[in-house]
Amino acid sequence: MTPATIDPTTLRAWSDLSAEAARSRESSIRDLIDADPDRSRSCTIDGARVILDYSRQRATPSVIASLLALAEQAGVEDLRTAMFRGDHINTTEDRAVLHTALRQPAGDRLEVDGVDVVGEVHEVLSRMGVFANEVRSGAWLGATGSRIRSVVNIGIGGSDLGPAMAYAALGAFDDGQIAFHFVSNVDPTDISVALAQCDPESTLVIVASKTFTTLETMTNAHVARAWLVSALGEAAVAHHFVAVSTDAPKVEAFGIDPANMFGFWDWVGGRYSMDSSIGLSTMIAIGWDGFSSLLAGFHAMDTHFLTTPPERNLPLLMGLLAVWNRDFLDIPTTAVLPYSQYLKRFPAYLQQLTMESNGKSVRRDGTSVSYDTGAIFWGEPGTNGQHSFYQLLHQGTSIVACDIIIVARSENPQGDQQDMLAANALAQAAVLSRGRTAAEVAADGTPAWLVPHKVMPGNRPVNLIMIDRLDPFTLGSLVSLYEHSVFVQGAIWGIDSYDQWGVELGKKLAVGILDDINGHASSTFDPATDASIALYRRLR
Ligand code: F6P
Repeated sequence: MTPATIDPTTLRAWSDLSAEAARSRESSIRDLIDADPDRSRSCTIDGARVILDYSRQRATPSVIASLLALAEQAGVEDLRTAMFRGDHINTTEDRAVLHTALRQPAGDRLEVDGVDVVGEVHEVLSRMGVFANEVRSGAWLGATGSRIRSVVNIGIGGSDLGPAMAYAALGAFDDGQIAFHFVSNVDPTDISVALAQCDPESTLVIVASKTFTTLETMTNAHVARAWLVSALGEAAVAHHFVAVSTDAPKVEAFGIDPANMFGFWDWVGGRYSMDSSIGLSTMIAIGWDGFSSLLAGFHAMDTHFLTTPPERNLPLLMGLLAVWNRDFLDIPTTAVLPYSQYLKRFPAYLQQLTMESNGKSVRRDGTSVSYDTGAIFWGEPGTNGQHSFYQLLHQGTSIVACDIIIVARSENPQGDQQDMLAANALAQAAVLSRGRTAAEVAADGTPAWLVPHKVMPGNRPVNLIMIDRLDPFTLGSLVSLYEHSVFVQGAIWGIDSYDQWGVELGKKLAVGILDDINGHASSTFDPATDASIALYRRLR
């Protein structure tokens, strides 16, 4: 059963943290670091090959103690138990939230609503493994006998961002035999550009959609189907189309043989699905062993989250610090700054994971929150971002919390470039958190008039996350870290992190507006929308 919803502002720890926040104005991150030579060691924790150094957060040991008390009083542990057990903690959709079951090892058992879900997961994984292996080895042939050289994954949101992010992140583990394209946008350019690079005879299309109803995905899937059929005929569909979905009847109605469908379950949220069959493209790219290692990384972080004491628990502390920054230090946004080109899609992936999960303003029981919830997540890889938006991070009037991610070993070493990359990341972490005082600037010989322009206020909270190497295992553990951090934040805020009602209304309205644009209806919406429809019709 899902534990009762609590208004966190009624908890003792919440009041303590409000008092801590008032006190924290008297000291800075620089003061905290300089006052305690041991701070870096005591604020560095690790698990599942991920290291988190939170010494550059604006948090004293007593803030950390109060945050841990908040987790206890808010019942985070009970909700965590309920989630891993398969209780329907997604209350508004009455569903279990069991992405953790996707990575439980074969042989584990987890019965939910009378069914062993781990057994089902491994059944699908085995089928994916056979199929991926056939495609990779060339045993799977197109209708005219060609082996597959291009894979087009058509999906959007969780059915696109995870696979696209993982494909980019694990580029060093893909043998390059097959080109991958990820098509998501209903903008016709997206599918057109992808198909223009493919030969129908050697192309495999994966239609990835949990619901198999999403407008963008189904529209693009029909375009791809027509493209294939016009080149190779109707019978070719069975050789060139597979589906990943929870809805077998809809897949069949689209014309894809259920034998070519890989299922998953309603207890996997779209944004938590990259390690389900939605990851089919990932498995084709990195193979069975690579995908198994990805799952092992996810599972290692799940186990860490479940079993590590609170004060050393990575997702728990990361989630609590996010609450501290958001609710007590009034920091509305977090920049994700991976110093790894392979992680170029990671900020986009985290945008959906974090904002679709925690962008809510009512609690599970329907009562409104009186405090801030999910921060705005965004970012770009370093060092590129340094030459773009870091100016605002350093000297703007809005404080942005930063997650700086360092990968210690490059997969493509070139002279000392990797060390340059890491040096830049560490330099940014230092400047963001410590800043540079007027006295320090003046000591450089800077003329007095220029000094104020060169002062860096610092005091920007930074999480420094380090991994030894970006491989399937560490990618899995990194994603799982963020998944559980999101869970912790949602648990404190008392919201349902697993629904997404906010995106539904716009989707519905778009259908009616499309009818109007096409002249099939003349509904009136509101004066502004009606005027914009008319303007668009004149211009198109
Ligand atoms: O944008 C809303 C959403 O439902 C996401 O949560 C989901 O990841 C995406 O649409 C795609 O949904 P589906 O996999 O059902 O096509």
